[in-house]
Amino acid sequence: MLNSNSMSCLATLVWCFSLFSLLNSDSCFALSNETDRLALLAIKSQLQDPLGVTSSWNNSINLCQWTGVTCGHRHQRVTELDLRNQSIGGFLSPYVGNLSFLRVINLANNDFYGEIPNEAGRLFRLETLLLTNNSFSGKIPTNLSRCSNLIDFRVRGNHLVGEVPVDIGYSWLKLEVLSFADNQLTGQFPPSIGNLSALQVINIGVNGLSGRFPDCLGQLRDLYYFSIEENNFFGTFPVSIFNISSLQTISLAFNRFEGSLPVDIGFNLPNLAYLDVGQNNLTGTLPHSLSNVSNLKGLELFDNSFSGNVRIDFGSLLNLNWLNLKDNNLGGGTISDLDFVTLLTNCSKLEALEIGSNRFGGVLPHSIANLSTTVTSIDMQHNQISGSIPFEMKNLVKLNALYLHYNQLNGIIPHTIGELRNLQSMSLSANNMTGTIPDSLGNLTLLTGLWLRINNLQGGIPSSLGNCQNLMELSISQNRITGALPKQILGIKTLSTLLDLSDNLLSGPIPVEVGNLKNLGALYVSRNQFSGEIPTTLSSCTSLEYLDMHENSFSGSIPFALNSLKSIKAIDLSCNNLSGQIPKYFENLLFLELLNLSYNHFEGEVPTKGVFSSKINISLLGNEKLCGGLNELHLPPCHSTGPRKSTVTLLKVLLPVIGSVLILLTCRIVVENRRRKLAHKSSSTLRVEQRFPMVSYAELSKATNEFSSSNIIGQGSFSSVYKGNLGENAMPVAVKVMNLKQKGATKSFVAECEALRNIRHRNLIKIITVCSSIDFKGIEFKALVYEYLPCGSLEDWLHQSNDQLEAGNLNLIQRLNVVIDVASVIEYLHHHCQPPIVHGDIKPSNILLDYDLIAHVGDFGLARFLSDRSPCTILETSSSSIGIKGTVGYIAPGIYIHI
Ligand SMILES: *[C@@H]1O[C@H](CO)[C@@H](O)[C@H](O)[C@H]1NC(C)=O
Ligand SMILES: *[C@@H]1O[C@H](CO)[C@@H](O)[C@H](O)[C@H]1NC(C)=O
Ligand SMILES: *[C@@H]1O[C@H](CO)[C@@H](O)[C@H](O)[C@H]1NC(C)=O
Ligand SMILES: *[C@@H]1O[C@H](CO)[C@@H](O)[C@H](O)[C@H]1NC(C)=O
Ligand SMILES: *[C@@H]1O[C@H](CO)[C@@H](O)[C@H](O)[C@H]1NC(C)=O
Ligand SMILES: *[C@@H]1O[C@H](CO)[C@@H](O)[C@H](O)[C@H]1NC(C)=O
Ligand SMILES: *[C@@H]1O[C@H](CO)[C@@H](O)[C@H](O)[C@H]1NC(C)=O
Ligand SMILES: *[C@@H]1O[C@H](CO)[C@@H](O)[C@H](O)[C@H]1NC(C)=O
Repeated sequence: MLNSNSMSCLATLVWCFSLFSLLNSDSCFALSNETDRLALLAIKSQLQDPLGVTSSWNNSINLCQWTGVTCGHRHQRVTELDLRNQSIGGFLSPYVGNLSFLRVINLANNDFYGEIPNEAGRLFRLETLLLTNNSFSGKIPTNLSRCSNLIDFRVRGNHLVGEVPVDIGYSWLKLEVLSFADNQLTGQFPPSIGNLSALQVINIGVNGLSGRFPDCLGQLRDLYYFSIEENNFFGTFPVSIFNISSLQTISLAFNRFEGSLPVDIGFNLPNLAYLDVGQNNLTGTLPHSLSNVSNLKGLELFDNSFSGNVRIDFGSLLNLNWLNLKDNNLGGGTISDLDFVTLLTNCSKLEALEIGSNRFGGVLPHSIANLSTTVTSIDMQHNQISGSIPFEMKNLVKLNALYLHYNQLNGIIPHTIGELRNLQSMSLSANNMTGTIPDSLGNLTLLTGLWLRINNLQGGIPSSLGNCQNLMELSISQNRITGALPKQILGIKTLSTLLDLSDNLLSGPIPVEVGNLKNLGALYVSRNQFSGEIPTTLSSCTSLEYLDMHENSFSGSIPFALNSLKSIKAIDLSCNNLSGQIPKYFENLLFLELLNLSYNHFEGEVPTKGVFSSKINISLLGNEKLCGGLNELHLPPCHSTGPRKSTVTLLKVLLPVIGSVLILLTCRIVVENRRRKLAHKSSSTLRVEQRFPMVSYAELSKATNEFSSSNIIGQGSFSSVYKGNLGENAMPVAVKVMNLKQKGATKSFVAECEALRNIRHRNLIKIITVCSSIDFKGIEFKALVYEYLPCGSLEDWLHQSNDQLEAGNLNLIQRLNVVIDVASVIEYLHHHCQPPIVHGDIKPSNILLDYDLIAHVGDFGLARFLSDRSPCTILETSSSSIGIKGTVGYIAPGIYIHI
């Protein structure tokens, strides 16, 4: 029986319940499009909208007509917000959580930053949330798991951190697309996601996820795209996926998985188009059942430990486009190893055949010439393949990369190779090739790299090679090449990484045209029979870092002009007939760290500074008439040379300097204390020290959204500056891309590189790395990468205002601090750098401020060294490694679709 008390309680409950359902019913919101209006205006107020997309968001029109806003017919409430691809920056306001009828949010391809607001978790009607390609940071809000109607969730290409919220596996039961690739998420992959049985796409590649991958996906009957590449997963890979017959794409590449491919993979996955398990730790043989997967387009098994013979019947894989078996233990070194190549001739869409670094033996099948004419790259390097290169190879007209180095090929280089007009790199190094270098190679005008070293080639260097006006690296060392060095070769202005002619039988002088090679980083002509003097024009090769001329018959003295080789690191002139004095200017070549002048006829005084200051950097053996130098060299003393005046001169220069330093210091102490307090606040801006290796064009392109105009933060006549996020950690950087079409831009790049190369000061902008390369179109590309300073330039602070700062808002002390910062840089450049550097362009827009308002001086594009008045020269950070590097036009198409 219920008493009255409980009756009234029940009544209250009923009342509560009806109120609740009233509130929750749509009619309740008859007037609340006002909430939507306020929310949208709040969202707008946080945005930077350069294209003015939200300018229609004003009170004179109905909000349902605002650009990017869609309302439902019945309630006139906002159901869709679509601002994709509009160059919009800014925070996403928490007010978004008030748009309670919202079903679709699409903000893809913009520059939203900051966290995804927790309030978005209130959007219980939300079905689609697309935030791809922005700069959202922070964690994926756990609140989002409340959006239980979510079907499509994509946050690929942001800077999200933290773990994947476990709850989503219990609440997003309608989810079809889960994409958070290209972020910095860590932790494990929650097994609960295996519950989301509607899933069609799982794309979580390129993150920092780790641990064993839970084998939980067996129930996903509709999954067609599964990519978990580039994480740190290890252990046996999830075999349950090999039973999901709907799968079209599987990418497990770049993890540390173990195990082998299931024998029946081809029977269970009839729809498979891409299988990428490259760079793992997989073993076993290649399942023959793959012959059944007639849709297979890409098979990437590179960099594992697969072994055994390749017995897949490629003849039935008519759609095969990309085959990459590189870096495994495949093949048995037997005659039949390459039989599968003949089967591949059926694959009329084949583009890449990459089987390098295995154990394939046998004769190179001549059927290789019958591969589809769509083939662009063949890589069979580092195997044990014998036989000769067929003449008919010329049929492969689209070929742009041919790598056959480190095999046992013999016979001649067919002259018909010259008909492969699209060839961009070719290496036949380390085989047993005989005959001559065919003239016809001069027809390969797109060639950027040609490597023929370590063979038995004879005859001369064809002068026609001078037509290869894109060649960056040429190596024909260790052959039996004779004759003179044709001057045409020295007219290839693009030669930049390496010209290696060493270990041949070349004779005659080095032509004066060598001075044309202004971009060349390494010149090796050692162990030939060259004679004559070292050409003075060599002084124009101002990018040269390595010069090796040893074991020839060069005579005469070392020309004075070589003092302009400002970036030279190593010089070897040993075992020649050179004579005269050792040039004193070698002391001043700042980067020279190896100098070998042994077994010549040098005479006179050995200098003591620079490279000569350490015995291990130099070799002077076998020069009988040298004297002086370091004591450790044990050379006889030279005649004394009168009293030294240099200390007096030094004092004359130093005294005024010390004076000005003292004055500066006194000024400084006044403000230093205040400054210290500030400086403690953020040490994060100082953490940038982490060093990058040289970056490629592709990396910079990725970092800056393909040099998107929305990333531009500054523009000058020689260059544009882009904001970007570089590398795995998405480190914020400023990328200064030189406009090389502009006269003087190269000079400016070189001047800046050189100036910044060896100087360090807390008030200088830090250079992180440089890129000197060519872009995807083959056009020369130079860029400098700096730390990113978030607070703009002094110019902004003095004359402009934006959201983050108000004009004229620097107080006197702050201004004084900036002046002192700048003065201390100038003092450093003028008095503490050797040689002294003149910036030449100090102005407010070149002075950047960090969070603590500490000034950093940048833009050394007009900098000059004081010691020589010639426009600054030199410095290409060209590497001189001889290996084959990634080549333009030869980039494996990822199987990565943009979901
Ligand atoms: C409101 O937006 C409309 C459409 O873009 C525009 O024509 C109008 O000038 C705007 N009104 C105000 C007051 O900004
Ligand atoms: C809200 O909806 C009402 C009725 O549908 C409409 O008259 C009014 O203009 C709307 N308000 C705004 C701000 O769009
Ligand atoms: C984005 O917009 C730019 C121009 O505004 C256009 O060129 C580009 O194709 C668009 N990209 C996408 C993915 O819609
Ligand atoms: C909307 O959201 C904001 C922030 O989340 C909140 O402050 C505000 O009270 C909400 N309600 C309305 C009616 O705007
Ligand atoms: C994201 O950016 C990439 C590369 O810039 C582009 O290919 C892709 O289409 C973009 N994704 C979306 C959803 O716009
Ligand atoms: C691959 O496996 C071998 C032994 O099976 C192990 O030594 C090696 O560290 C593994 N490599 C990686 C990258 O996990
Ligand atoms: C190269 O060919 C010569 C004769 O042509 C032969 O003597 C030599 O063994 C071969 N070298 C290799 C590595 O096959
Ligand atoms: C290719 O090179 C050969 C040898 O240098 C030359 O005779 C021939 O004319 C060239 N062919 C073309 C089409 O330029």
